[in-house]
Amino acid sequence: MQQPEFRSRAFPLFHSYNINELPQIYGWFEEMRSQRPVFRDERTPLPIWQIFRYEDVLTVLTDYQRFSSAPLSGVGFAGSFIEDTLVAKDPPDHRKLRNLVNQAFTPRAVMHLSERVKQITQELLDEVREKGTMDIVSDIAFPLPAKIIADMLGVPAEDWDIFQRWVRGDDGQRRPAGRQAGATMQDEMALYFAGLLEERRRNPREDLITALSKAEIDGERLNNNELVNFCTLLLAAGQETTKNLLANALVCFTDHPDTMEKLVQEPGLMPSAVEEVLRYLSPVWFLFRHTKTDVELNGQHIPAHQLVLPWIASANRDAHQFPHADRFDIQREPNRHVGFGHGIHYCVGAPLARLEAKIALSMMLEQLKDIRRVESQPIIANMGIVFVIHSLPITFKA
Ligand code: HEM
Repeated sequence: MQQPEFRSRAFPLFHSYNINELPQIYGWFEEMRSQRPVFRDERTPLPIWQIFRYEDVLTVLTDYQRFSSAPLSGVGFAGSFIEDTLVAKDPPDHRKLRNLVNQAFTPRAVMHLSERVKQITQELLDEVREKGTMDIVSDIAFPLPAKIIADMLGVPAEDWDIFQRWVRGDDGQRRPAGRQAGATMQDEMALYFAGLLEERRRNPREDLITALSKAEIDGERLNNNELVNFCTLLLAAGQETTKNLLANALVCFTDHPDTMEKLVQEPGLMPSAVEEVLRYLSPVWFLFRHTKTDVELNGQHIPAHQLVLPWIASANRDAHQFPHADRFDIQREPNRHVGFGHGIHYCVGAPLARLEAKIALSMMLEQLKDIRRVESQPIIANMGIVFVIHSLPITFKA
């Protein structure tokens, strides 16, 4: 069958964009959902099957028998520590790791953190309040989740500098960590967490490392390697995502000042506003799977052992699932977005990310008035797995 021509241009992955281009990117998603919902991208050296519709994305994320989370050899996370963590495993290995992790990562353990989230947010706000200006990314969105993960893991305050360097992906040489430097940094982190684990085994505390080291199912525990890899995964999975949820929320709020004012008047709407940010400008834009067998999806044949890319950002704007999908509606009900994924790999950290966003955004709107974006500065974002905003300057009145 003759494929219809694209009206809009296709947008390359892992590329930086001005956020002014977002309407065109979402326009491209809409076109793909209607014309090529299961699309084999011919421009990439390896065939990638991109999936645009909500229903199809849900199928890919739910059906782990046909769509595996293990990286294809030589591609993506293959060879990195992530390959040995739960996010890259299928059942039954995934089940064992997930059950053990769930024992330590309980809603109660997360609720315990709410005072700490308030305290850290207050300290960060106190540092900028008098200035009337700040960069949301470096002043709030970066340090808050990093400090919380450090706290959760039980990383002592005196190690905050090293920890911060790892979170930034900086190898300490004042240059971005390349592949080689990245490997060295991972070794450094692995060694550090192994030491911390050893210490907690001798002196148990009320922290995640202690809880993880004790978690047990049917006499099975996480081994040292699994524990160390999981701690490193928490940094990789929990930092950049939460940072961008906070930055994206500020993009949505400043783009919709009336909505921001409504939130100031009715702070009880914040939890549903956070859900709408997760849908409308999702921090995670896409995921990867590969086909274990030949698959038929939406009438399209996908051969076995091919890379599949379900677009979370497109699924979350699918008008068949979300009426007026391009409207930012903080009272949207229902709002079954897939911002935290779906199925067996559904985000372990979702309650924590929600808690941090709800507390930090509420405190900002309560304490800072007349929040505006600095219009003269272009807002640049990288469209990788996470949609990363590098800097977001705002002005406000204390
Ligand atoms: C707004 C913030 C966050 C977003 C948007 C987000 C998104 C996601 C998504 C989409 C997945 C599914 C991955 C897949 O199916 O392959 C996932 C999994 C995961 N997330 Fe999050 N995440 C966030 C915050 C966090 C935090 C704070 C933590 C922990 C501190 C965390 C830990 C994890 C882990 C461990 C997994 C793997 C779960 C599994 O494979 O069973 N995430 N996250």
